[in-house]
Amino acid sequence: MTRSCYIHIPFCSHICSYCDFSKMYYNSSWCNRYLDALEKEINSYYKGEELETIYIGGGTPTSLSVEELKRLFTILDQLKRTKDVEFTIECNVENISLEKLKIFLNYGVNRISVGVESTHLNILSFLERPYTKEDILRTISLLKEVGFENINIDLMYAIPGESIEDLEQDLNFFLALDIPHIATYSLMIEEHTKLGNKKIEPISEEVDEEMYQKIHRKLESSDYKHYEISNFGKKGYFSKHNLTYWRNNEYYGFGLGASGFVDGIRYTNTKNFHKYEKEEFRQEEEIMNSNLDMENEIMLGLRTIEGVSKERFQKKFGCDLKDKYEISDLLEKGYLIETKENYYIPFSYWYLSNEIIVRFIGVE
Ligand SMILES: C[S@@+](CC[C@H](N)C(=O)[O-])C[C@H]1O[C@@H](n2cnc3c(N)ncnc32)[C@H](O)[C@@H]1O
Ligand code: SF4
Repeated sequence: MTRSCYIHIPFCSHICSYCDFSKMYYNSSWCNRYLDALEKEINSYYKGEELETIYIGGGTPTSLSVEELKRLFTILDQLKRTKDVEFTIECNVENISLEKLKIFLNYGVNRISVGVESTHLNILSFLERPYTKEDILRTISLLKEVGFENINIDLMYAIPGESIEDLEQDLNFFLALDIPHIATYSLMIEEHTKLGNKKIEPISEEVDEEMYQKIHRKLESSDYKHYEISNFGKKGYFSKHNLTYWRNNEYYGFGLGASGFVDGIRYTNTKNFHKYEKEEFRQEEEIMNSNLDMENEIMLGLRTIEGVSKERFQKKFGCDLKDKYEISDLLEKGYLIETKENYYIPFSYWYLSNEIIVRFIGVE
């Protein structure tokens, strides 16, 4: 049963130097055409389930005008939801406003995610993100004043030129904001982005790992649980929507370039606006046979402190992970821990989790 839904809004008011997501410059005429197509996609595929989580991401949903946002929420009104639905929208510091936040509240949004990334002007300018530390402070105060308390902020690190001291200052600033969830992103230099085209070299593996460990120590000693490789939450504030992904549960993905997992099929939508507009929504579909599904269950589950649940694995696949994969060596060396309930990778090896997973299921 599909209980979660991701909706992608591909418009941004500016384009960051590193971003490889499905996005384009905001344009009101394109936006209206996009919303028409999005409505058609939802009408064609949504089967009326009560949703436990809804997540509007981007791109930059807050690049839309007040009227466009109202239209978006009217389209989404047809999505049925449980009483305690987690309903998140991503907001950017440069285009958030009181009026937009009030619309979110009116339409039932109860969780906000803000891409803060850094507080250093030189780093923000390298990333081509147009705001200052003062703008961040104003945004967070506004969110709290309006009544949002379930908030996530994104922190980016491993940025060329960034020092450990810079990161320390960002962490202190983030902690002082007193926000219940922090998602961290190690900067990836992707091809076909401005940084990729300029052949900017990434930071060294050693510094990246040092920063990763620093973030862990600092946030864990301030009431945050490092519950997934890149995510930290206070008690009661883990992202229900993202847990859907990591538990290998099904979810709708609507919008340009969105991906979803419905009725045993994983799909990715086209990133081509014209195709999307012509209602050629799906670009790729992959039927999950039991082996693929098992691999996903392991790859996703081992990203979290919950790990892979034995009961769930047995119910879904009729066997134990041990019956299917040779893991005795990993267990002996402590890379993988087995308890009565689950298998998990201990934090000390999270940085190596990709290598560990590849070692026993053999996929990258
Ligand atoms: C794609 S953005 C969408 C939300 C919003 N537009 C924003 O900029 O915050 C989601 C997160 O992905 C991060 N991100 C995008 N490209 C990245 C990259 N190449 N490396 C690391 N993080 C990246 C962004 O910085 C942001 O925190
Ligand atoms: S990081 Fe966010 S704001 Fe920047 S280009 Fe990507 S989606 Fe747009």
